[in-house]
Amino acid sequence: MNVLIIGSGAREHAFCSKIKESKNINNLYVAPGNAGTAKIANNLDISVSDFKQIKEALLTKKINLLIVGPEIPLIDGLADFIKRDPALNSILVVGPSKTGAMLEGSKDFSKEFMFKHKIPTASYKTFDASSLEEGLDYLEKIPSPYVLKADGPAAGKGVLILKDLSKAKEELSNMLTKNKFGESGHKVVIEGFLEGIELSCFVLLDGKSYLTLPSAKDYKRIGEGDTGLNTGGMGSISPVPFASKEFLSKIEEKIIKPSFRGIIKDKIDYVGFLFIGIIKVKDEPFVIEYNVRMGDPETQVVLPRIKNDFLDIMVKTASGQLSNINLDIDENSYANVVLVAGGYPEKYQKGKEIKGLNRDCESLILHAGTKKEANKIVTSGGRVLSVISKSTEFKSALKKSYKTIESIDFEGKYYRKDLGFDL
Ligand code: AMP
Ligand code: GLY
Repeated sequence: MNVLIIGSGAREHAFCSKIKESKNINNLYVAPGNAGTAKIANNLDISVSDFKQIKEALLTKKINLLIVGPEIPLIDGLADFIKRDPALNSILVVGPSKTGAMLEGSKDFSKEFMFKHKIPTASYKTFDASSLEEGLDYLEKIPSPYVLKADGPAAGKGVLILKDLSKAKEELSNMLTKNKFGESGHKVVIEGFLEGIELSCFVLLDGKSYLTLPSAKDYKRIGEGDTGLNTGGMGSISPVPFASKEFLSKIEEKIIKPSFRGIIKDKIDYVGFLFIGIIKVKDEPFVIEYNVRMGDPETQVVLPRIKNDFLDIMVKTASGQLSNINLDIDENSYANVVLVAGGYPEKYQKGKEIKGLNRDCESLILHAGTKKEANKIVTSGGRVLSVISKSTEFKSALKKSYKTIESIDFEGKYYRKDLGFDL
């Protein structure tokens, strides 16, 4: 089987390394990939948004299965583009239709979906430039802190949580009338604030049934103690210590099942991963958001726990056969520590040589912002590497990753040393 994976992060490197284990893989391609994927697959220099070139690659490389890593091509309709084209529509695709991808692409759409299908989530109201005055009045009536979300995709940066009413009013105006967050912020969802601890749940859908994958917890803030700016993710742990069997079954009954049934009932064409961001308030789960893809950095700890042939799972997802799968899950703990470039998520430098990648270690090292330059591997993005280790519990898994990190070096290397502090 020939497989193409779209994306370039450690999530996609994790997909690659898992698929390489399958006896059914023939040729594996990644577009555009990174220096890590180049070692185990063929990188294609194609942007995730260039549908024309993706089509050409699908045809010339005789691809049988396409897995879409990031959300943007899905929101832009890549799955529909392939289905509509008679030359492509026999290719299996893991990734929902454009309508399905609106569960991530529009906060307003996803909140409406949750309310319609009685899925627990925070209260909300949506405003645009024409209803700015009503939005300002609404802020007066609700308690602080104020949660303002740009409706459209904003790479995780479109959410503001503000304590001060006048600041919240100012930011609402900035988004609706001054182009803060661009077009994505021309509609704003104002949400009730939920207090609790978060976890990421992952589900596969094949159009007829669903399969719940292991959940994980990620660390989004740059600073220790969960302080400072939001990032793409500084680390992750799976399984999640506070996600007891009872709590996970509450999530299954109150959130996963109604989400799946809602998708079927609304006739949303959805084949692929559904990532449900959950917050545990007292002992009850609420949905913070849907994403229409796997999480990064969560994938790097979720995939290693799946003992089944992952390529087989992907094929069965894309061909409506998920009900034939019995998941075999490794109950060990996996921890991922992300190494980032100094300065990230603000300005940072690229092109720094990464040393120590080839030493023997107990960890799996997955690449994100890396590229090969002459005979060196250099940094080429904010998040550079994911260092994943396994142990009987998360603390010792983390310890192993921290030990591995000591022998990896690049100028400006930064990582959080306190992962798991809240567990
Ligand atoms: P989102 O992009 O919707 O996942 O929001 C980004 C982050 O903002 C989440 O991971 C939460 O930490 C936080 N957040 C979003 N919505 C709420 C809410 N209603 N209450 C409290 N925190 C929230
Ligand atoms: N870990 C959060 C995300 O992938 O959006």
